[in-house]
Amino acid sequence: SQLPPHVIVLFGATGDLARRKLFPGLLHLQNAGLLPEEFRVIGSGRHSPGTDDEFRRQIHDALQDDEDISGWDDFAPRLSFTVSSAEDGKDLAEAVGAAEEELGEGARRLVYLSVPPTAMLGMVTMLGETGIAERSRLVMEKPFGTDLESAKELNAGLKEVYREQDIFRIDHFLGKESVQNILALRFANGLLEPIWNRQNIRYVQIDVPESIGIEGRASFMESTGTFRDMISTHLFQILGFVALEPPVQITPAQLHEEKEKVFRSVRALDPSRVVFGQYDGYRDEDGVADDSDVETFVAIETYVDNWRWFGVPFYLRTGKSMGATRRTVTIGFAEPAMEMFPDGGGLTGPPSELVLELSDDPTAELDVRAKVPGPDMKIGRGRMCLDLHDSFPDAEPLEAYERLLLDVMKGDPTLFTSTKEVERLWELCDPVLADPPPVQTYEKGSWGPQAALDLPGERGWRVPEDQ
Ligand code: BG6
Repeated sequence: SQLPPHVIVLFGATGDLARRKLFPGLLHLQNAGLLPEEFRVIGSGRHSPGTDDEFRRQIHDALQDDEDISGWDDFAPRLSFTVSSAEDGKDLAEAVGAAEEELGEGARRLVYLSVPPTAMLGMVTMLGETGIAERSRLVMEKPFGTDLESAKELNAGLKEVYREQDIFRIDHFLGKESVQNILALRFANGLLEPIWNRQNIRYVQIDVPESIGIEGRASFMESTGTFRDMISTHLFQILGFVALEPPVQITPAQLHEEKEKVFRSVRALDPSRVVFGQYDGYRDEDGVADDSDVETFVAIETYVDNWRWFGVPFYLRTGKSMGATRRTVTIGFAEPAMEMFPDGGGLTGPPSELVLELSDDPTAELDVRAKVPGPDMKIGRGRMCLDLHDSFPDAEPLEAYERLLLDVMKGDPTLFTSTKEVERLWELCDPVLADPPPVQTYEKGSWGPQAALDLPGERGWRVPEDQ
């Protein structure tokens, strides 16, 4: 790898995300030879996990389920932990300085804040005051603030310490191969773009049901809720990629500009078209208040009011403890101009749909009507399918966080969220947060409250086939 040596400072190093994604991701990147030759990872937080060796052991334990821990012996000595807090970053600044000296000239710093939104600003100020921010890029985990006001305050504080190009707000959905493939399908082909508009598209559904519950993340869920966790971030970012105008080029500035324009075009959410749900049994979970009104499910109808999309409904849905885990974008195309087959050819059901599965095994399928072989002109529903793994069996996909960590080290902000985007998204979401719809109960393993099922009208939600 041509990357300069890096000192990576990781706040939240003993947290869920670090254990599940960041440490495994760093290890894989190292094993794949994609990390700089020289790097150090300094975990940090208020509470010490013990000695450095104990810290390493905890990470090693977390990596046990991983299929590839082969490079551990090379990885482990680069890890250490230094206690710090918003009030006191002296020891950490010293540890960073010492690590840098070991790495030599030209070392860069990457500071990763995997901390709750309320803790962000204090940390950023500390990074500025201690000088840790110097020569560093900052990576932040969502949510970026908890509403428009706090996001603006955070952004103002960030601006005091970091330049915009050094701030990397992670939305890991944009790191998914499948999500970037939306741009490839749209702009690397001349085929789709001419029909990618209100003349030919009748609806868009962005559906992210999850069968998992809150998995020990009660305090996160209680303070964040699904609307902030998923809608204002991941689902709107997908909407951005689906709806944006062709950028002049796929460069960070152009892409951000087009995404901002889409978010500016999104119509103010109509509270009567927003459904909040909570799965039955949520209040009995450990760490959840007995009378909690936090939503574990959200479905919304929204519109993009520009020439391309005016009048086309976008349905967004996501929730915990639902019937299946999917990340699906469905684009519904117009019906044929007239019915010309005898007796309709037996033609019923949904129109042609492009269905993108944004999973780790990404597929794009075009569901079209076709002739059922046989003596009659009978029409049925067939499938044209693109499978990225089958198409490119030798490619080496990176997990979303791995890709994004690498992009930060390269200084490439293309797949991150800009200040303007964040503020516009909060502007859209604030009215719902200020006056949320009543939370309706849904059964575990279901598809959410009835009101959500009814939201797209007769056409309903496209339900995964294995249901
Ligand atoms: C996270 C959310 O950002 O994304 C989780 O906080 C959610 O609640 C997760 O489960 C889904 O990510 P992935 O990578 O499994 O699609």
